[in-house]
Amino acid sequence: MSESIEYWFSYWGPYVVHTRFKDPAVVAELLEKAIEQRKDTGRFQQLDARANLAGQIDEEFWYEDWNDWFVPRFAPYVNLYLEGLKDYKVDSFEHIYTRTEQATGKPQQIQAKLEWLLDSLWVNFQKPREYNPPHHHTGDISFVLFLQVPEGIKKENEAIKGVHNNEGPGMLIFDFGEHLPFSIGRASQMPEAGDIVMFPSWLRHYVSAFKSEGERISVSGNITLCQQ
Ligand SMILES: [Fe+2]
Repeated sequence: MSESIEYWFSYWGPYVVHTRFKDPAVVAELLEKAIEQRKDTGRFQQLDARANLAGQIDEEFWYEDWNDWFVPRFAPYVNLYLEGLKDYKVDSFEHIYTRTEQATGKPQQIQAKLEWLLDSLWVNFQKPREYNPPHHHTGDISFVLFLQVPEGIKKENEAIKGVHNNEGPGMLIFDFGEHLPFSIGRASQMPEAGDIVMFPSWLRHYVSAFKSEGERISVSGNITLCQQ
């Protein structure tokens, strides 16, 4: 009977986009640069990002000069997210326009078009028993880009499914709102190398520890929307 009744439901909550880097060469280059940063022990303190990051992770490093080599390659993905936001929520950028109006005194009618700026870019080398506790980012839009996810983590996760009442090791987990009946409050994903996840910077997320060998390597960054 219910099959003949048309229905629809509301999309709800933060706009989170999952996609994949089309060019594996960029992923390889990010990984190469990350490993170089790590080797550069002479500049270890300068590139050490841990004081700014929530991760219980020993090796987290800033990338440098990303506007030259990374931004042009990543721009299509940011633009994809921004275009999608317009459809998802028509007034997505109202608060940015208001922010500009307050900062510059220029009425919204004569403000320049929306632009974006990558504020920071860093790499996390997550090793066995390290984790990223619940945290959020600064900026307007953030992303995670996965450079390496060892097969062992996926197998470990699958092997203990149902043993504990949680998503398991190595998953990227987003929490939003209350966990209430008939409502989805959590989204999780076992990433693969090349995956990109883009989300509002305020959205709380975390990664549980794994025990298997290898490093789960991810790049993350924060973007601010602005009008020049
Ligand atoms: Fe994060």
